[in-house]
This record gives sequence, C-alpha cells and structure tokens, in this order.
Amino acid sequence: MATETPTTYEDMSREELYELAQERDIDGRSSLSKDELVAALQLEDEGPDAVELLLEQHDRIRDFFDEFAELSSRPSKRKDELVDLLITHLVKHAEVEELVFYPAVRSEMSGFDAEIDEDLEEHHAAELLLAELDHMSSDHDRFDAKVLVLREIVTHHLQEEEQDLFPKVREAIDQQRRRQLGAAMVRAHKIAPSRPHPFSPDEPPANLIAGLPGAAYDAVKGVLRAGKRTVLRR
Ligand SMILES: [Fe+2]
Ligand SMILES: [Fe+2]
Repeated sequence: MATETPTTYEDMSREELYELAQERDIDGRSSLSKDELVAALQLEDEGPDAVELLLEQHDRIRDFFDEFAELSSRPSKRKDELVDLLITHLVKHAEVEELVFYPAVRSEMSGFDAEIDEDLEEHHAAELLLAELDHMSSDHDRFDAKVLVLREIVTHHLQEEEQDLFPKVREAIDQQRRRQLGAAMVRAHKIAPSRPHPFSPDEPPANLIAGLPGAAYDAVKGVLRAGKRTVLRR
C-alpha cells in the first residue's frame, strides 16, 4: 500500500501555488504573496469530515426510502419524485465514494482491497436497478418491487460501510486528512453526474488521489471533465 507523504504547500514555489489557485479559482490570487497563497489554499482544503459527510448522505437516502415505504401501492406523483431523488442522491453519493473516498482508503490503509471491491460491486448492482428505474414510472407493474429490492441492497451496503469501514477510517486517517478529503468530496459532488451509468468504469487510475493537498479534487475534476468512460479502465 502506498505510504507516500503528500507534498505540502510550503514546499511549492509561488508559481506552482499560483497555478493551483488559478485552477481552483481563488479570489484575488494575483495580489497574494506566497504565504498568503498557502493560507488561501489551506483554507480551501478545509471541508467537512469525509466520514460525517457520507453519513449525512446515507441518512438522506434512508429518509427517501422510508417515505416511499409509507406510501400506498397505487401509482403517484410523489413516488415518481422520490425515485427521482433516490437516483440523483445515490448516483452522486456513489460517484464521490468511487472517485475520492475509496481510492483514499485503498492508498492510505492496508488490507481493504477486498472490501472495496465488494463495495464497488454493490454500487454496480444498485446502479443497474437505478438505470432501469430511471426509465420507469410508478404505474409500471414492477416499480414497487424494484424499489424494494434496491432498498435491500442499499441498506445492506450502507450498514456495512457504517459498521465496518467508517470506524476503521476514523482510526487510520487523521481528521485533517479526512477534512481534505471532505473538501474534495463536496466539490466532486457538485459536478458529479446525477443519472446512472452502470457500465462506466468505477475507479480512477491507481494512486490518483495520493499526493498534494487538494490534488484529490483537481484529479477528480480532470477525470470528470474528460469523461470516465474514456479516461478510466477497469
Ligand atoms: Fe458505498
Ligand atoms: Fe456510502
């Protein structure tokens, strides 16, 4: 497993810092000194704790499933809306985990490759159902059954992450690094696709995420800009 120490902003030249500030669109960058650029980039890196952020997203997803389960078996506009919300939230959540969180676990913790592989397969299984639901409405005979099966797969997956993976991430990755990852995840979430693509590759190139503070986001942005289909290989 990679254990390389990320380069710090302090080690970078002003030109390198400026280039990074330009990519990340930091206000007033041209008038900032080297130290000020370091401070501005560090401030930009401060995000929510990555694990807390994912837990919030899990809760939101559970709320949508719970509301759906309370509705009658008859077709309704609210059922269609809820499935649309589930598609957007689940696809973006999976994307952020696949592009930022899981690669960080793979590169910064040892012994988790099999677990991450299983997680990716569960994402894939859920995304196949999401892709079908994306073209269905609540008047379809099997709509409720598909949502029910989706709920079973997703609930099992969220529980495993919460009970097994997340506590170990909290032990192995310090809070500062978790906040850097959180910042990258917030940015990635904004630009992540919101519709399912179950056959797109689900992992970025190896070690893409290791490296400079903030590099996670820059890498993610590059991957998303170029389109995962063409950049990534299974
Ligand atoms: Fe996941
Ligand atoms: Fe998750």
